[in-house]
Amino acid sequence: MSSQSFSKNTTITTLQKLKQKGEKFACLTAYDACFAKILSEAGVEVLLVGDSLGMVLQGHDSTLPVTMEDMVYHMACVKRGNAGALLMADLPFMSYASETQTLENAARLMRAGGQIIKLEGGAWIADTTRSLAERGIPVCAHMGLTPQSINRIGGFHVQGRDTEQAQAIIEEAQILEAAGASMLLLECVPRDLGKKVTDALEIPVIGIGAGPDTDGQIMVLHDVLGVSPITPKFVKNFLLDSSDGIPGAVTDYVQAVKEQTFPSEEHCFH
Ligand code: KIV
Repeated sequence: MSSQSFSKNTTITTLQKLKQKGEKFACLTAYDACFAKILSEAGVEVLLVGDSLGMVLQGHDSTLPVTMEDMVYHMACVKRGNAGALLMADLPFMSYASETQTLENAARLMRAGGQIIKLEGGAWIADTTRSLAERGIPVCAHMGLTPQSINRIGGFHVQGRDTEQAQAIIEEAQILEAAGASMLLLECVPRDLGKKVTDALEIPVIGIGAGPDTDGQIMVLHDVLGVSPITPKFVKNFLLDSSDGIPGAVTDYVQAVKEQTFPSEEHCFH
């Protein structure tokens, strides 16, 4: 493979540089090869094989039933279609309950094509993050609304609305950065908290329902294409105004993120 083709691939360093330059980047979930090709060719920098597949592909009402087998299968599908995006994979519910289990499962996802592993949690995943990072596995910590904890949280609610909870999110994000996290994903928090966390960290922060100030934006593919059964406030259907079907909708999403016209005020929590 030529050095030129290597240089086209998005890496964590690419995203770090974009953060330093103040340039936004676009991420989307992907679960199969065809969409991985369309999305990566449209300039989406990060493809997440998210455990949201339990809801949008499998029809469950939460992400809890998703297994490692599901994740490895979809990761391998996405890798086959990818044209240079950074590939992120979720560790599903209860697949990182002990250190040995975490390392084995993260390795399975990396062997299937993953390049960075996402897991949900705050300071309590600091040791796990360190352990993975020390072994060469980059980690994206998922904070704010963490869907795998839906039964403890009590619903898909905005997180960090009171000062104490917001401060805890900032401090725990810093703990995870210090433990070796390469990226942070922040879900469903007020806009000003999204900005504070992004400013407090050197690693790239990607947001979903976290306002326009995070370094990158991520959306569930089915939401962007308007085929999800529910439409949360932070979602925009880009297929509605597309002049070129699905590829056009994805291109418009990438452009809107980069030009900072999405998310707009109507998609933000306060
Ligand atoms: O699993 C997933 O798709 C996610 C999104 C909410 C970003 O984590």
